[in-house]
Amino acid sequence: VERLYLPILYGSVRKNRRSFSVATFAQRLLEKRPDVETRLFDPRDLPFGNLVEREWEIEAPAPEVREFVREMGRADGFVVVTPEYNFGIPGALKNLLDHVYDEWNRKPFAMVTAGGTSGGLRAADQLRQVVSGVGAFVVPAHVSVQFIGEAFNEGGPTATPEVWEERFGRLFRELEWYARTLRPARLALAAASPA
Ligand SMILES: Cc1cc2nc3c(=O)[nH]c(=O)nc-3n(C[C@H](O)[C@H](O)[C@H](O)COP(=O)(O)O)c2cc1C
Repeated sequence: VERLYLPILYGSVRKNRRSFSVATFAQRLLEKRPDVETRLFDPRDLPFGNLVEREWEIEAPAPEVREFVREMGRADGFVVVTPEYNFGIPGALKNLLDHVYDEWNRKPFAMVTAGGTSGGLRAADQLRQVVSGVGAFVVPAHVSVQFIGEAFNEGGPTATPEVWEERFGRLFRELEWYARTLRPARLALAAASPA
């Protein structure tokens, strides 16, 4: 079985951000899955501010931008871990998504959202629209973290880790199914008609 590459895209650059522990928890679980390679992409480590030029419009992209694009290009799907800010996704995540396009195209996205009472459900709805905008789609399963301030700390879930492992497991199984199913078709199509 060929390994799937499923990077994690993280949404917050906020000082003392709380949802980072959700992203690292997702990373730990994903790393344990057979035939899956992953890596966490943190917008703090990327020079994507408000969009000025998309990656392919930049005359000489920075090495970390080139590397980001290469990694997104070889990905078979993505896990997005993001908090909800004012009923939507953080600007940092939107900017990251806006900087490239082809690299998202026709690939499955899995969502993990965090918030207060709503568990980031409105950020999830908004992300589904944005992902459609880049010619990709979001798988139906979804992990929602309510009351993020209490539910997770640096070590992971503050209670019932097995319940969270089961939720993330279901999400990853579904993402892997779509990623594995679509991969050969996507590669064949790319070979037949580049771009
Ligand atoms: C600017 C801002 C807006 C927020 N808006 C919402 C919201 O609309 N819905 C919600 O459930 N939580 C909201 N929250 C609470 C966040 O979900 C919570 O602070 C979370 O920890 C933010 O993620 P972060 O700490 O990883 O940046 C908001 C927080 C901030 C900073």
